[in-house]
Amino acid sequence: MAKINCIGVLTSGGDAPGMNAAIRAVTRAAIFNGFQVKGIMRGYRGLVYNEIVPFQTQNVSNIIQQGGTILKTARCKEFATPEGRKQAYDNMRAAGIDALVVIGGDGTLTGARVFAEEFDVPVVGLPGTIDNDLYGTDTTIGYDTALNTIMDAVDKIRDTASSHERLFFIEVMGRSNGFLALNGALASGAEAAIIPEMVTTMEQLDELIDHGFRKSKNSSIVLVAESELTGGAMGVAQHVKEKNPHYDTRVTILGHLQRGGSPTAADRIYASRMGRASIDALMEGQRNVMIGIKNDQIVYVPFTKAIRDDKPINPALLDTIKILSI
Ligand code: F6P
Repeated sequence: MAKINCIGVLTSGGDAPGMNAAIRAVTRAAIFNGFQVKGIMRGYRGLVYNEIVPFQTQNVSNIIQQGGTILKTARCKEFATPEGRKQAYDNMRAAGIDALVVIGGDGTLTGARVFAEEFDVPVVGLPGTIDNDLYGTDTTIGYDTALNTIMDAVDKIRDTASSHERLFFIEVMGRSNGFLALNGALASGAEAAIIPEMVTTMEQLDELIDHGFRKSKNSSIVLVAESELTGGAMGVAQHVKEKNPHYDTRVTILGHLQRGGSPTAADRIYASRMGRASIDALMEGQRNVMIGIKNDQIVYVPFTKAIRDDKPINPALLDTIKILSI
């Protein structure tokens, strides 16, 4: 195996709070172990367009508490083509980079897998996404912060929902997964969560709403995961309003505010542990793996497994929400 002297680090796809803590950990653990580090700007785009900067320990000072990513991020179409990846590889080699640490979600790791196989480059991934949808790790960097942001937002909406005796449908992100909606609902005491993993028929939805809103409460909150299947919060609210025109319903789409903010302690700790582990992994000769944390232990998850897109939700949590909403 070729000797690694210089490690490139990039963030790609949707930003997530804690990415900066991860960049800091990767950079410092690498320098501590005698490697050079280069920061690649704007994800894979920076490889294709040669936006690569040398990183010293001070480049990552004072960023552990910042949301977003100092390396910027992008979703790069060129990297999806063989020509784009060849250009990326040539630029990477010209910059003296021997291995990569990529921080991002499903799309980032998919790109990493293809690139690593095509050019025989050692690549290690860190799960950086608010969606928590990567298989083989209990959590992803950014998920805990986004959950807390959702909880704070719902707490505020609850004040006005209860004052006006309204039924609120609040849409949260998650791409095709319901982790944010499910645990956001539990954390904020919502009456129900509508998630893509469990088909909720409109009859079930009516029953859920009846369960709390009509029987014992004067206001209700339903968290709805963004989804083309249900039409998101707008689609669900429209259905409910058609059947129950007397309900005073409102829709709030939380949107990109879920991606911002200072990372929670949990996310900073995950990012720091995983970032350091990515360098250990490269030193052990690991490649094409995502770093995960399972039962508080660092694990290496092959890219092919991590991006399988079937990380299971715990269906019992839906039941818990229902039981606790009486
Ligand atoms: O993957 C993170 C995420 O925030 C998803 O939850 C959401 O579906 C998507 O990115 C939004 O992407 P964009 O920022 O490109 O609109």
